[in-house]
Amino acid sequence: ATTRKRLVMGNWKMHGSLAANAKLLDGICAGVAAVHNSDIAVCVPFPYLAQARDNLRGTGVSWGAQDVSVHEQGAYTGEVSAAMLNDFACQWVLVGHSERRSLHAETDEQVAGKALAALKADITPVVCVGETLEEQQSGRTTEVIARQLAPVLALGADRVAGLVLAYEPVWAIGTGLTATPEQAQAVHAFIRGRLAELGAPQVRVLYGGSVKASNAGSLFAMEDIDGALVGGASLVAEEFLRIAAA
Ligand code: G3P
Repeated sequence: ATTRKRLVMGNWKMHGSLAANAKLLDGICAGVAAVHNSDIAVCVPFPYLAQARDNLRGTGVSWGAQDVSVHEQGAYTGEVSAAMLNDFACQWVLVGHSERRSLHAETDEQVAGKALAALKADITPVVCVGETLEEQQSGRTTEVIARQLAPVLALGADRVAGLVLAYEPVWAIGTGLTATPEQAQAVHAFIRGRLAELGAPQVRVLYGGSVKASNAGSLFAMEDIDGALVGGASLVAEEFLRIAAA
């Protein structure tokens, strides 16, 4: 139904060690040849970018980071710039993950600024949006998504065409509660509508929130769901590969 290539991306969050990652990356690489029709990527903690690059180069599995600074360089202790991510050949960077928005008070404007910083460095930002349980229950889902998207869409069609969006309802993250395919599709269709209005209809929109092998197939069957951003289940190679193959 779609010409957009599926993308299945792991978000390791703050998990891993050199030893555990080596095993996980080996496991993913061992099975990747059997996965067709899907791009596969992992977003790893900053200290492991060199390991991801060394273990994944030439394998068909791409890699990226979980955040990027809006600034190019300077007195920003603890921040990592897009140019630094380029040094490790990152293809992707997550921006505006709900954990960054809630734990680090990132605003919609900062998230858009980070997306722009990544785009300028030729790194594809994966911009995350999603409503909280309270926002969902009070019927404000599309209002919240529209507000989060506004400064991103304001970057203009040409720039927006270079990014990926991820819809992650906050209430579904790490809770085992997944949005039903129909619930997710409704929000994806809304996002797709905004993209079409802007003139960037080919942007991939991933779903995230308790995706596992057992529910990935029914999510991917939806018209406007172009893949998944996977947390917990991306830490087990076989499960992650099963999601990509679903
Ligand atoms: O970015 C992925 C994420 O927030 C979803 O996490 O563990 O529910 O798959 P999880």
